[in-house]
Amino acid sequence: MNQHTRVDAAPIAFIDVAAQRRRLGGRIDAAVACVLDHCQFVLGPEAALAAFCGARHAVTCASGTDALLMVLMAKGIGPGDAVICPSFTFCATAEMVALVGATPVFADIDAATFNIAPDSAARAVAVARRVGLNPRMIIPVDLFGLPADYKAINALAAAEKLFVLDDAAQGFGAVAGNRNIGTLADATTTSFFPAKPLGCYGDGGAVFTDDDDMRDILVSLRVHGQGSDRYDNVRIGLAARLDTIQAAVLIEKLKIFPDEIAERNRIARRYSQHLGDVVTVPRAPGDVTSVWAQYTIRIKAGTRDAFAVALKAQGIPTAIYYPKPLHRQEAYRHFPADERGLPVSDSIAEEVISLPMHAYLDETTQDRIIAAVLRAVGA
Ligand SMILES: Cc1ncc(COP(=O)(O)O)c(C=O)c1O
Repeated sequence: MNQHTRVDAAPIAFIDVAAQRRRLGGRIDAAVACVLDHCQFVLGPEAALAAFCGARHAVTCASGTDALLMVLMAKGIGPGDAVICPSFTFCATAEMVALVGATPVFADIDAATFNIAPDSAARAVAVARRVGLNPRMIIPVDLFGLPADYKAINALAAAEKLFVLDDAAQGFGAVAGNRNIGTLADATTTSFFPAKPLGCYGDGGAVFTDDDDMRDILVSLRVHGQGSDRYDNVRIGLAARLDTIQAAVLIEKLKIFPDEIAERNRIARRYSQHLGDVVTVPRAPGDVTSVWAQYTIRIKAGTRDAFAVALKAQGIPTAIYYPKPLHRQEAYRHFPADERGLPVSDSIAEEVISLPMHAYLDETTQDRIIAAVLRAVGA
């Protein structure tokens, strides 16, 4: 192996948290030290998060999963209720629906955006009614950082009287038209898990809403259903606070987040320019800016394993989100779905593979990844 190939095969990080830490480490260390000094461990960066996206309220909590659960609880969703979800998502979207005793009803996705297909969601509503459920909510997911089709979803929701909960665990920071994620649905949840576009150093999440009453209920729910003080319990709740150390990390990271989003978009554009002729690259519709939680391409079914092995041999990690849609999972396959089946979710699950994506991928590394993909597909 000559010098050149040895350098080329050095492993690349899929998501490089250390590179961001090199940029921000001192500021975060100081912010955390300040938290340790004043010993307030349970407050959140709520005003900054709400201002960032333009929502009236942000309510922080312990994870993106808790955020979903808190909204479902706040809306009193439970047995007999149906909640329409995409099948091609991380399990938490439907998991929290089932946890409160309601029934997730699965809809298919759009092949170009990977997001819930409004026509399939409409059929899922009809299926829910036919099996005797009361359709009350729809949870579009901004998969891989791309906002779902809120115009169509909000129109469907208005016609069917559904509450729209945007699961923006992957999409916080994205924009559709002139509106930010956080303001496109009745409520929005996000995750600050470290691998997310805006991640803290542990678990964290938030709910965004313009509804004052919902905000008050969420604040109560995250601390054991507290009322006027923490020993006044007015409802059944959770222990779901964001701890202040994570809040301190988030406040610092939020300051450089716009810059990181711009970088992610630059990298995605470059990938697409170079790979668009040989694989199916992700495309954001005209008025939408993705936050590129993942850069996910599609390659011919049956070739994915060999493709991943070829990239790995060149030091390039890949990931598959998601190898099995929820309606094929043991825990979820008994739930109802669009009567036409979910053919797009089924086929896309065999074709998707995500390339390294983070704001600190320099051009040399991008070029290595692009060259490796071109070699692996024989272009
Ligand atoms: C679409 C989606 N929803 C919900 C979650 C749950 O977020 P958390 O891991 O913070 O609980 C995730 C996390 O990966 C996700 O991707």
